[in-house]
Amino acid sequence: MNQTWNAEKYSSDFSFVHQYGNDVIGLIEGKNVRSVLDLGCGNGALTRTLADGGLAVTGMDASGEMLEKAKQNAPHLPFIQADATDFTLDASVDVVFSNAVLHWINKEKQPSMMRCVYRSLNDNGQFVFEMGGLGNNVLIHSALADVFQEHGYAYQMPFYFPSIGEYSTLLEAAGFKVRYAILFDRPTPIKGDNGLAGWIKMFLSNPFSVVAGSDRDGIISEAVQRLEKELFKDGVWYLDYVRLRMRAVKEAAA
Ligand code: BEZ
Repeated sequence: MNQTWNAEKYSSDFSFVHQYGNDVIGLIEGKNVRSVLDLGCGNGALTRTLADGGLAVTGMDASGEMLEKAKQNAPHLPFIQADATDFTLDASVDVVFSNAVLHWINKEKQPSMMRCVYRSLNDNGQFVFEMGGLGNNVLIHSALADVFQEHGYAYQMPFYFPSIGEYSTLLEAAGFKVRYAILFDRPTPIKGDNGLAGWIKMFLSNPFSVVAGSDRDGIISEAVQRLEKELFKDGVWYLDYVRLRMRAVKEAAA
């Protein structure tokens, strides 16, 4: 995960990310849940919602800028700066929760992240998350890959969007039992006429690092133009999101 964030713009223009996360909180099961780690807490909006629901929550994120914003949003809550693939908690928790973060971790590093999560959970603890799943933003990435190629650049896909089967296999190898899994299309509206270009600039800066500064806006405009027919409806841009939601449990040994 190697991305710099504009936490202010993220919070003002892309608040849908944590708004959908409220549904993911609903996947946490059972009455005896008290402690939660919000893994990749970003601006702390969901950390706060979890705490408002009566849970003892700690937020964790790799980005210092996001954590600054999180501490403004929820000054009463503890936040830790750490890498999701290499962390240890002082005290284990009942739930590790994560929204719209795990696809930023490449496939090779997923097992390290899962080991850290497993180690951080109490017996019967739950790993509850949503991430981009197989096919997520396929139209956007294909259009960009085509336009990059036409301008003499190679488009490096920066995300990992697994299927249920592939991710379940990784979770089981880490010791988890998968108790719930769903992969579904969620066309997601974004604000403004310029919505898609703004989203590309915010979230896809990594592939653009190989592109000359003078070519960047032109490439984005060409890709956006090609996507208009499929993703711009009645004056609104929609992201072609596919979500993977799961609950995996660290079952106590019999
Ligand atoms: C997602 O939540 O699926 C996502 C967000 C930003 C970039 C890529 C994917």
